[in-house]
Amino acid sequence: MSLYRNSVWFVKGLREYTRAGYESAAKRFVEDDLGVDVAGRHYMITGANSGIGKATALAIAKKGGTIHMVCRSRERAEEAKKEIESHTGNQNILVHLLDMSNPKEIWEFAEKFKSENKLNVLINNAGCMVNKRELTDDGLEKNFATNTLGMYILTKALLPALEKEEDARVVNVSSGGMLVQKLTVSDLQFECGTFDGTMAYAQNKRQQVTLTELWAKSHSKIHFSVMHPGWADTPAVRSSMPDFHEKMKNRLRTEEQGADTVIWLSISPAVVKYPSGLFFQDRKPVPTHLPLASTHSSPEDEEKLLHTLEELSQRFVPVTCKL
Ligand SMILES: NC(=O)c1ccc[n+]([C@@H]2O[C@H](COP(=O)([O-])OP(=O)(O)OC[C@H]3O[C@@H](n4cnc5c(N)ncnc54)[C@H](OP(=O)(O)O)[C@@H]3O)[C@@H](O)[C@H]2O)c1
Repeated sequence: MSLYRNSVWFVKGLREYTRAGYESAAKRFVEDDLGVDVAGRHYMITGANSGIGKATALAIAKKGGTIHMVCRSRERAEEAKKEIESHTGNQNILVHLLDMSNPKEIWEFAEKFKSENKLNVLINNAGCMVNKRELTDDGLEKNFATNTLGMYILTKALLPALEKEEDARVVNVSSGGMLVQKLTVSDLQFECGTFDGTMAYAQNKRQQVTLTELWAKSHSKIHFSVMHPGWADTPAVRSSMPDFHEKMKNRLRTEEQGADTVIWLSISPAVVKYPSGLFFQDRKPVPTHLPLASTHSSPEDEEKLLHTLEELSQRFVPVTCKL
């Protein structure tokens, strides 16, 4: 089955996820969709110092939004902030230091952030593909800690702040690679069998899609969406998938093309006409499963994912955070 899924997915990717795929899809984009002024609205973007996150921050800053860059390296964040300021003239760019693989730090950060700021849109963009099974200081597998648990805690902790605002949105940056994975909840940290970083990453990205669907059902005041950027030439692709990058480098999207749907989902009034909880590719909702791929999960497994993440996340709530 996985050979079937991987082959169907790769052929689809060659047609749709490349630069040519973007250019073809862009012919149907409505230009006016991004003709908005978002001054006064606050956007939090994780991993905003690089790649798709930085391209998103820059585009929203151009439209006047206040940008909260959530990054783990002061040096990389400040450098990107300077670049965004000089390109846009927007002075409302703030840097927040946070390691998205550190659950306790995320709880603390979110509590402090809520007490000092408002938030209209959360963009969960930070992500990693660690190819060897490595653990954080808390003993968490690194892909899971960053891509799933970190994103879960940040979102969960910020939901009350988002619920206070008009037209609040959460945009989750997943990956088309999730299409090859069926949700598995019995081994969230890949303790059994041979570890495969690409598959661990794809499983995390499937989990992000499931979480988006579940949150959309339980939080009707917020518009949730999840998307995939296609295949874009970014530092993550160059360092985590060097062979793929070498073969595909002339066909990859630019960072701006990869970010296009994130930007559209974050600022366009056209988005809220769609129901909350959908998966988007090139400004269009698309199925979350490949045909005949047997990747559908049961409602019980989906609830179990939520329950397990909730239980695990609570272990890291600092005593100072009253939730
Ligand atoms: N490029 C593609 O083709 C593609 C395809 C599908 C999905 N995506 C998704 O797009 C998102 C952005 O990736 P990208 O391709 O733009 O790569 P990128 O340029 O390497 O950006 C990844 C960002 O995430 C940050 N990050 C990673 N781990 C973190 C942590 N523990 N704490 C805080 N920040 C962390 C990185 O920070 P540092 O700079 O400090 O490392 C960086 O800012 C990811 O979620 C990725 O899975 C990308």
